[in-house]
Amino acid sequence: MQKIHAAITAVGGYVPDYKLTNAELETLVDTTNDWIVTRTGILERRILKGEGKGSSDMAVMAVQNLLAKRGIDPTEIELLICATTTPDMQFPATANVICDKAGLTKAWGYDVNAACSGFIYSLNIGAQFIETGKHGKVIVVGVDKMSSIINYEDRTTAIIFGDGAGAVLLEPNHEGNGIIDAILRTDGSGRVHLHQKAGGSVKPATEETVKNKEHYVYQEGQAVFKFAVTNMAEVAAEIMERNHLTADDVAWLTPHQANKRIINATADRMGLPLDKVMINIERYGNTTNGTLPLCLWEWENRLKKGDNIILAAFGGGFTWGATYVKWAYDAEAR
Ligand code: UT7
Repeated sequence: MQKIHAAITAVGGYVPDYKLTNAELETLVDTTNDWIVTRTGILERRILKGEGKGSSDMAVMAVQNLLAKRGIDPTEIELLICATTTPDMQFPATANVICDKAGLTKAWGYDVNAACSGFIYSLNIGAQFIETGKHGKVIVVGVDKMSSIINYEDRTTAIIFGDGAGAVLLEPNHEGNGIIDAILRTDGSGRVHLHQKAGGSVKPATEETVKNKEHYVYQEGQAVFKFAVTNMAEVAAEIMERNHLTADDVAWLTPHQANKRIINATADRMGLPLDKVMINIERYGNTTNGTLPLCLWEWENRLKKGDNIILAAFGGGFTWGATYVKWAYDAEAR
């Protein structure tokens, strides 16, 4: 009997309307459009505006977009996994809030926090529930309101991050399409280079921590860059090799959108031309957990059944990984 694969069978996405351009950033911090474009490839990012709006609001839009495309009732969903680094609250999980707001009344859900690799981790976690036959419809959503933890006086991080959400539906596939293989890694010693200093159990929030701006993203850019460029490229190449895929066999690389130079290095290591690489960093910046599903959302109509796609990510933790997906449908034919 053919193995049950977990296949992505629909994609949804959402980005807020407000565009934070390089020109606006020039008025906030000591930077230039030229520096940002040359060093990162980013032209603008989206920012979620509005009192009381959080990650769940963007995630709900992405989930509803996905459900509407397929005409699926929210009560058909059995599990929702939310990958996020900027949950609505420390607890309860943002997944619970999304299920409530989107009417997923028959689902259970939880959050996964693996920084920029959260979506790739969650995709593989969700896949287990499909492959074992436990569930038939699982949603994995990647979302971040990075603007809620960015110090817009810090030029090294303010220029990179943006807000957005993407969601995929996982269903069983009996034709050999879906998630074929994954390599997932973690190295906690890397936490010193990228983290949030206060607000957790080690250093709860106080007046002092707020005054010292310890609730924002702390990143040693160069160190993170060095690890990202090596590890993301290595793992992407490794998954190709162990699945006997040549560059010609790979239809698309879906890379985490942290820096255009990291994306280029990964494509280069895989021997892929850039026209096989999903890149939207210039318009959205780094949306952390949103990057991979937002790429799939934007490219969905160009993907063909049977396409070999490699997803790759690297993020805080350190966390990183690659996943080999055999695409399961032609969106255009639907
Ligand atoms: O997604 C999660 C994982 N995160 C990443 O993968 C991010 C990885 N890191 C990066 O993408 C890059 O390191 C950054 C984009 C953050 C920084 O780029 P860089 O090429 O590594 O710059 P740098 O930190 O080496 O700084 C070079 C120079 C420095 O000036 P001096 O010391 O050479 O005079 C910085 O002070 O550029 C300066 N600089 C800036 N100048 C203008 C740093 N940020 C800016 C800025 N505008 N925004």
